[in-house]
Parts: sequence; C-alpha cells; structure tokens
Amino acid sequence: MSIPDKNKPFPLEGYNRLCFLKNCIKNPNISVGDYTYYDDFEDVANFEKNVKYHFDFVGDKLLIGKFCMIASDVTFIMNGANHLTDAISSYPFAIFGGDWKDAMKGKSYPSKGDTVIGNDVWIGYKATILPGVQIGDGAIIASNATVTKNVEPYAIVGGNPARLIRKRFSETEIEKLLKLSWWDWPIEKITKNLKALTGDKLQELGDYI
Ligand SMILES: CC(C)(COP(=O)(O)OP(=O)(O)OC[C@H]1O[C@@H](n2cnc3c(N)ncnc32)[C@H](O)[C@@H]1OP(=O)(O)O)[C@@H](O)C(=O)NCCC(=O)NCCS
Repeated sequence: MSIPDKNKPFPLEGYNRLCFLKNCIKNPNISVGDYTYYDDFEDVANFEKNVKYHFDFVGDKLLIGKFCMIASDVTFIMNGANHLTDAISSYPFAIFGGDWKDAMKGKSYPSKGDTVIGNDVWIGYKATILPGVQIGDGAIIASNATVTKNVEPYAIVGGNPARLIRKRFSETEIEKLLKLSWWDWPIEKITKNLKALTGDKLQELGDYI
C-alpha cells in the first residue's frame, strides 16, 4: 500500500503552491489536522497572513480538522478585529494611551471564541470566515462567501452573509456520516475504501454504515 505522507509539506512533486497545511504553520494558536491542504496562487505562507487580527494577547484559536480543502485567498478574521458594538462610539480610544488609556475600564472588546472548522470541509476561493464561527464536518463554503454564523455539517453555504444553498445529503444520511467519521479511521482503512468514499451511495460503505 502506498499512502501519501501526511508529514510532507509539499505532497505534489515539483509543486510548492499546495501544501499539507499542518506542516507549514508556525503560529501555536492555529492547529490543523492531517491531510488538510491549502493551495495558494503565489506562496503557501500567505495562509498565515490571511489569518487576520490574530493576536497572542487575545489568545483565540483557529482549529481546523482533517482532510479539509482550503483555496487561495481564504481569509479568517479573528477576535482581535472586534470593536465595541453596543457603545455610543466603537472607536478604540484606550489603545492610544494618555488621558484616553482608561476609556475602556470595566469593558472588554467582544470575543466570539475560537474559530472551528470540522473535517472534510471545502472552503472555496476568497471566502471569509468571521470570528468564532464553527463549520461542521463535510460542509462546503462557496467562493466569495462571507460566513458570519455557524454552518451545519454537510451544508453548502454561499453569499454575503452566507446562507444555506442546500444540504449535501438527507438528515438521516448526515447522521450516519457523522457517526461514521471516516476521517478518524486508520489511513489504511481509508485507503482501502476510497472508491466508496468518493462515490455518492452510502450503501457502498457496506458494513460501516
Ligand atoms: C458552492 C458550489 C460548490 C456550489 O456548486 P453546485 O452545487 O454545482 O451549485 P450550483 O452551481 O448548482 O448552484 C446552486 C445555487 O447556489 C448558488 N451559488 C453557487 N455558487 C455560489 C457562490 N459562490 N456564492 C453564492 N451563491 C452561489 C447558485 O446561484 C445557485 O442558486 P439558485 O439555486 O438560487 O439558482 C460552487 O458554486 C462554488 O462556489 N465552488 C467553489 C469553487 C472554488 O472556489 N474552488 C477553489 C479551488 S479548490
């Protein structure tokens, strides 16, 4: 059995614009699962540049599952981007110091928590994911989508703000697929079942389903 090496940064021979992302990430507040790949028109280092407003002092995390497909120019906006939305002014007076330094006393910038991307999620070209969004396993994010709310497993969403386009399978099938969690199988078992996994009939997964 010959299986692509998940620890190889650039799995395509002679091509360094597609990487197995976990091998190309330096920020400890970003975690990426095995085989998730990122494709960039120029340089895969753009991935971390496109995780915006991601400050250590905020400490929020970007957590990405296994077997995700992330296209060029996908942007993640993190909690460091948030200003007050329930105050008269959203201007961040306090950061400029002097007599403004206490302007925020007793208040903090809103945090929506970690951004969590499930497994087998396909994020299309130029999509933007807002802070704290959770995207379920098997979801598809359309190109140019602006995702402001959580996305259900196996949903396809698009537009700005992103809305449901359709579900990829029936609710019963989605329940079975989530139970199956094929991405957690040993890689040999995944490799043996590729025909069924890339087919569209759950029955072909036979005993597993
Ligand atoms: C989301 C996507 C997968 C949908 O593909 P599909 O299932 O073939 O969908 P269709 O083309 O049949 O469109 C279905 C509906 O979604 C809408 N739609 C499709 N793409 C959309 C987008 N990017 N933004 C908003 N709406 C979109 C269509 O207008 C259509 O709407 P309608 O039902 O009101 O007529 C595809 O449009 C897409 O965005 N792919 C991403 C490609 C990409 O960025 N690849 C990067 C390299 S990996």
